[in-house]
Amino acid sequence: EDPRLLDRFGRTATDLRVSVIDKCNLRCTYCMPADGMAWLPRNRLLTAAEIRRLVRIAVRDLGVREVRLTGGEPLVRQDLADIVAGLREDHPDLPLSLTTNAVGLAERAAELAAAGLTRINVSLDTLRAETFATMARRPFLDRALAGIEAAAAAGLSPLKINAVLLRGVNDAQAPELVRWALERGHELRFIEQMPLDADHGWRRENLVGAAETRALLSRDFVLSPDPRARDGAPAERFLVASKDRPGAVLGTVGIIASVTEPFCADCRRTRLTAEGRVMSCLFSREETDLAGPMRSGATDAEIAGRWRDAMWAKPRAHGMDRPGLGDAGFVQPERTMSAIGG
Ligand code: GTP
Ligand code: 5AD
Ligand code: SF4
Repeated sequence: EDPRLLDRFGRTATDLRVSVIDKCNLRCTYCMPADGMAWLPRNRLLTAAEIRRLVRIAVRDLGVREVRLTGGEPLVRQDLADIVAGLREDHPDLPLSLTTNAVGLAERAAELAAAGLTRINVSLDTLRAETFATMARRPFLDRALAGIEAAAAAGLSPLKINAVLLRGVNDAQAPELVRWALERGHELRFIEQMPLDADHGWRRENLVGAAETRALLSRDFVLSPDPRARDGAPAERFLVASKDRPGAVLGTVGIIASVTEPFCADCRRTRLTAEGRVMSCLFSREETDLAGPMRSGATDAEIAGRWRDAMWAKPRAHGMDRPGLGDAGFVQPERTMSAIGG
């Protein structure tokens, strides 16, 4: 019997995303409500030791080859560096990355790098304080920028910047984001907004899709396909040059078209929520609890078995690329993005 995390559609999950906390210090409109979010009580969160055990099972028994820590906002967790250090001790060669909003990273980037973190992706939608306050509902742009600078200085690179474009809010700022990120040697990725907000305000007609983003960028830049293999990565990557100097490549921009050009058929992801449940997909309706069994004495083999069963039931695709979204077919999950782990 194959020990790996297989599903009915021939995919193998090798990429684990672990949410370490559901809380966040921002309130991005596409990810969380303005207020009234009910946090998990502390005793429901996986402890650092439990995360370590589950990752050990994932890597040793289930074929996971890459781990990313997410949230909420993982930096809100005080013992994040301990979590990283524990995973690094068990797995000296494991690619181990973090997705963060970088608020608070200035103080902790060096510590995280020393603990063994490999790489960081930062969510940053704008370089303007006013837009930041609108989108994230908190006035922390300067702290985020300081965090990014500290991460680069600590050697946590190549750094990827993730930006969600919202029409009429920050879409016109796409070119300045490109110049800013590429000048600093970061990769920038534009992400299509998925219906994972709290208020169920997502509308297809408001989506700034990949085609629109490419057109938008083509006004200022020359895009050519990145010759490097895509290899199951969520982003379609382009080499970018400015229009007046088309020969000089400034860097790489990616577009993650989760809605209009979904990569579900090549998905390699398995995820753990902050309370220790397996979600086979961002949009899966079923969750498989591992924390309960673990706390009542389940063996590693039993936990691995539950995890395999959970992934076997992974849906074929999210289905939201079908134009019927909003009517039949696709149903938005109850959990917001923040409670799944971006
Ligand atoms: P890299 O290894 O650096 O490529 O990381 P990543 O792109 O997998 O991770 P990141 O946390 O930076 O996520 C980038 C974007 O991918 C997120 O903003 C989501 O929009 C999208 N994303 C993450 N997980 C999933 C998923 O399971 N399904 C889909 N459809 N999109 C996802
Ligand atoms: N659609 C697309 N991306 C989202 N993110 C958060 N919510 C959404 C959404 N509704 C992004 C964040 C972060 C990543 C982990 O997920 O910007 O970069
Ligand atoms: Fe926080 Fe990230 Fe969600 Fe924004 S997208 S509210 S930074 S968890």
